[in-house]
Amino acid sequence: MVERFKPIRFSRAGIRGLKASATIAINDRVREMWDAGRNVYHLAFGESRFPIHPKIAAALGANAQRRSYTSALGIAELRRAIAEHYGRRFDLDVAPERVVVGPGSKSLIFSALMALGEEIIIPQPSWVSYGPQVHILGKPVTFVPTRPETNYELELDVLEERIHDSRQNWGNPEVFIVNSPKNPTGTVMRPEKVEALAGFARDHELMVLSDEIYALTLFSTIPHVSISQFYPEGTVVFGGLSKSLPLGGWRVGTAIMPREKGGKALGQAMSNIASNIWTCTPAPVQYAALIAYSGDPEIEEYIEICRQMHAIRTKFLYRTMNRLGVPCVEPAGAFYIYPSFERWKEQLAARGVHNDNDLAFHLLDRYEIATLPGSDFHAAQDFCLRISSSYIDVATDEHADRLLAAFMDDPNPERFIRDHHPRMQQVAERFAQFVAELKHEAGEPDTVPNLAVV
Ligand SMILES: Cc1ncc(COP(=O)(O)O)c(C=O)c1O
Repeated sequence: MVERFKPIRFSRAGIRGLKASATIAINDRVREMWDAGRNVYHLAFGESRFPIHPKIAAALGANAQRRSYTSALGIAELRRAIAEHYGRRFDLDVAPERVVVGPGSKSLIFSALMALGEEIIIPQPSWVSYGPQVHILGKPVTFVPTRPETNYELELDVLEERIHDSRQNWGNPEVFIVNSPKNPTGTVMRPEKVEALAGFARDHELMVLSDEIYALTLFSTIPHVSISQFYPEGTVVFGGLSKSLPLGGWRVGTAIMPREKGGKALGQAMSNIASNIWTCTPAPVQYAALIAYSGDPEIEEYIEICRQMHAIRTKFLYRTMNRLGVPCVEPAGAFYIYPSFERWKEQLAARGVHNDNDLAFHLLDRYEIATLPGSDFHAAQDFCLRISSSYIDVATDEHADRLLAAFMDDPNPERFIRDHHPRMQQVAERFAQFVAELKHEAGEPDTVPNLAVV
């Protein structure tokens, strides 16, 4: 129950029915535990915490005097640099006029959702904020479930069925969100799937919002292929500096408008929204971002180093789940894994754990492990958790500096984990203990290996 005080009355638009996300609830609980001096292994945090590259940090300092408002779309130099970056890194032919810069891709996704279409199609599972953003806008949603058996890729027949059902029910799905590499599963869409999806979107005249914020964090043989390669007239591509570089708090997001006339109109619409809400992305940050998008070999190398460190840490957590026999689809990018504990749902029920939300709190309270429940990610299956590798053993700036120095000194993955990730190894042991207990309770043979050194 929300206590009410006049004259504060809450509006129907947006806030009514908007639930506090478990992300926040878990983070609050973690903070309480830390304040009480308790240990917590924080696997719920999804931000890159490595050090800022000195050239980028210096650029911010050098531009501190840039204090005027800029164009809502971003400064011309940065839009040009971003267009060139897309050509260089993703082989996309992007004119600078098609680039929109905003305070994080989150704000740009929101303004695109505001500007476009009526009903929004969202895959399950998918990033926490898509659903709430659509809710705030008061638009209907069509959810499309995906399955671990098919790598959490969208299945066109399921998509077709859901769109059909919605239309039968007076719905009007027009905008479709895709995200690869994907948060929360770490999975990457295969190029042939991307092409098939583009054909589907074109045939059904759907607008695609392609969230490619993790495009430079791949670590499998599957290449990143943007759906805009196949459907440039109907795709908006989102990116930014929050994931490939450790700059989440700087709030630099990008959106590439579709080709042709429609793209120009959408850019204008997003500019109108931006200029009436946030005005512009902070000017010093935009000027500093120029170096991040410049193609400077040192920065490119640093993006690569960050990618490798995320990959080693994420793969370690994946292998841990694998060895413990916890079903988990192999990640191919980003810094997440998405294991399922459904196999032990009876044993969990006997502990009073009836869904993924209970499971996340159970792990936190009993094992000091913070994770996020799949239901926060619009999950189609219960008992999944999103586990992030991005925070552990880099909790402080000193840790982050030391970890980077250690990797530069010796990039061997086994030694990097064994010698520089004490907490990562401890949390693997905690999971081993948890799973051993569940197996024991289930009467399964206990075959949990020693995980201390991998
Ligand atoms: C899939 C996805 N999209 C978008 C974002 C937003 O990133 P930003 O607003 O920092 O660009 C995130 C951040 O966690 C994300 O995981």
